[in-house]
Amino acid sequence: MLGKYFQWHKSINTVKLPMKLITNKLQIPAPLQILQFVFNPISWMEACAQRYGDIFMVKLNQPEVWVSNPEALKQILANDNQDFRLLKNGNMVFEPILGRHSVITVSGDEHHHQRQLLMTKLHGNRMRTYGQVMSQVTEEVISQWLVSKPFCIQSQIQSITLKVIMQAVLGSHKGKQAEELETSLVLMLDHIRSSPYKVLQLYFPFLQKDLGAWSPWGKFIRCKAKVDRLLYAEIEENLKKSDESRTDILSLLIAAKDKNGESMTCEELRDELITLLIVGHETTATAIVWALYWIHKIPRVKEKLLLEINSLGKFFKPSNVLQLPYLNAVCNETLRIYPLRMLTFPRVVENRISLCGYELEPGTVVTGCIYLVHQREDLYTNHWQFNPERFLEKQYSPYEFIPFGGGERLCIGMAFAQFEMKVVLATILANCQLDLVTNTNILPQRDGLVTGPNCLIEMVMKRRLQSESNFLAKI
Ligand code: HEM
Repeated sequence: MLGKYFQWHKSINTVKLPMKLITNKLQIPAPLQILQFVFNPISWMEACAQRYGDIFMVKLNQPEVWVSNPEALKQILANDNQDFRLLKNGNMVFEPILGRHSVITVSGDEHHHQRQLLMTKLHGNRMRTYGQVMSQVTEEVISQWLVSKPFCIQSQIQSITLKVIMQAVLGSHKGKQAEELETSLVLMLDHIRSSPYKVLQLYFPFLQKDLGAWSPWGKFIRCKAKVDRLLYAEIEENLKKSDESRTDILSLLIAAKDKNGESMTCEELRDELITLLIVGHETTATAIVWALYWIHKIPRVKEKLLLEINSLGKFFKPSNVLQLPYLNAVCNETLRIYPLRMLTFPRVVENRISLCGYELEPGTVVTGCIYLVHQREDLYTNHWQFNPERFLEKQYSPYEFIPFGGGERLCIGMAFAQFEMKVVLATILANCQLDLVTNTNILPQRDGLVTGPNCLIEMVMKRRLQSESNFLAKI
């Protein structure tokens, strides 16, 4: 049975047969592996890599080969659609939240069509027009911070990225309806993250039982129903008053037709909206929080970065942040050291292929292990150290530095997220002097489906750097 997934490659006989070790010798049943992955993902992955090397097999919802060798990743991601295809139903863990029609949960032609559509709004000049919204929303949020009064940075940054994505997707982030949607989305997400116990519900479908309004899944279902109601109201409103001057993503989706000339149904529109609203703010928010932590933890990084940002002058155009090499290096190192997503989405072998010396049969599920690639000492010397300079000294290939995955499922929001990280960080650092209140060494842990800090981080504003009137005049 083991031979079905791996066959010893005759030419390389120094590599161990990891699948044998994991499933047979260690005798770890799938549910226990899921528990490790949910409660202890970082040390579990590190232990697996230390023991088995670049390629090994785990069993979560299905048996999967995990790969952290850049050459092997190149083979996989550069050949999506040839030797590999996207796994149908491979992202089922997302379905209770995102629905059946999300770009993340569909595959084949449907996936291709939806991807093409969304890419037009999230790239190039179109994407750059969101810069103004990104800096304005950041200024609005930081104008509420009080000097010397500590606050939790996670919720503040989440509020910024959620407002920005609401503006891009729905064309508005203000008013009663938008506020209600923002609050309901945050509440809904809190029921499936903020503790690994809540995340378990996504991996074990038998926990997805509505046992009343106070049961964990019951709370999630009720919040989700409220979010759905608000999203369907947005869709209905947009369908009634078709306004051709609108440039938001919902209007684009409403106008789009598939190859048979059919428009999207309301359910399909809802799934796409919630996907963008959730994945379009949560990962970026956590990335910005990590960046603020590192910048304020390491004085050398902060000094160098402030020097660069100050060179832009007091009132800079958002797109100017794209010219700052050190800011770019800080963002890359933030995404490298604790990548927000530990894994790529799974792919499935289409044609028999040799990977790292193993023969993989058609049907084998293969997943790129982003976290382990980013921790390779042969690529990143002193990999545990936050060192932005490494990105100034060396150009990494798209298979050595892969925070956004690659190939046919490469993150649709990559350019948007990178731009937003830079605009928000530069705006915060140009407008206020912050300090960490929580000054312990913060470690990564699972936070829902992303890798977040293991505690709430408190920061304090020591000084506002621009006069209040100047500052508000820009809003
Ligand atoms: C720092 C922020 C972000 C990180 C680290 C990140 C990371 C990722 C990763 C690793 C994947 C899987 C790629 C693969 O399997 O090869 C992915 C997919 C995806 N991301 Fe992101 N992402 C971020 C922000 C965003 C934003 C802002 C949006 C939307 C505006 C977005 C939308 C998506 C979508 C729709 C997919 C699925 C693509 C598909 O299935 O074709 N992401 N992201």
